[in-house]
Amino acid sequence: MIYYSLEGNTEFAAQTAAQQADIDLERLIPEKEPPKKGFRKFMWGGRSVVFNETPRLDPLKYSIGDYETVIVGFPVWASSYPPAIATYIKEHPFSGKKVYIIACSAGGSCEKAVNKLKDKLPGNDFCEVLSLRDPAKEKEKSAGLIKNFIAGID
Ligand SMILES: Cc1cc2nc3c(=O)[nH]c(=O)nc-3n(C[C@H](O)[C@H](O)[C@H](O)COP(=O)(O)O)c2cc1C
Repeated sequence: MIYYSLEGNTEFAAQTAAQQADIDLERLIPEKEPPKKGFRKFMWGGRSVVFNETPRLDPLKYSIGDYETVIVGFPVWASSYPPAIATYIKEHPFSGKKVYIIACSAGGSCEKAVNKLKDKLPGNDFCEVLSLRDPAKEKEKSAGLIKNFIAGID
């Protein structure tokens, strides 16, 4: 599972997924991150999406070539996927894989962001999408949804 998390929600989803199945977790860590608290994160993060920024990432642990099935996890930022995911796709474009998506939002629709991601990853077989609302705020309920989702992956 390749994922980015600023505030811990996608991280919660990733950790919960890894409790359910043997999943290698590749957390993307940009060298520069927005402030985690306060309104400034929306300004900083929103701007980075609008300007299509691709921040440099810390070294990766895994090689995408070793996997047939990939889960991509991300928080919705300004109706898109966040810049760290953009960097990954740019530097490690992949195709021919089964791709599942876990998208976290604060309640807005994840559809636009998911479609943008699909457009950027042509040639893959896109399977189920799990949309979650700030899962770390409702851990028990979200854990059930995440575990069901993971159980459905073959
Ligand atoms: C820069 C920025 C932009 C965001 N844009 C949206 C948005 O367009 N729609 C939405 O529902 N939530 C938006 N959110 C909220 C996050 O998607 C949501 O809280 C998510 O669960 C955070 O995941 P994380 O804790 O893994 O970072 C935004 C958050 C940030 C920091």
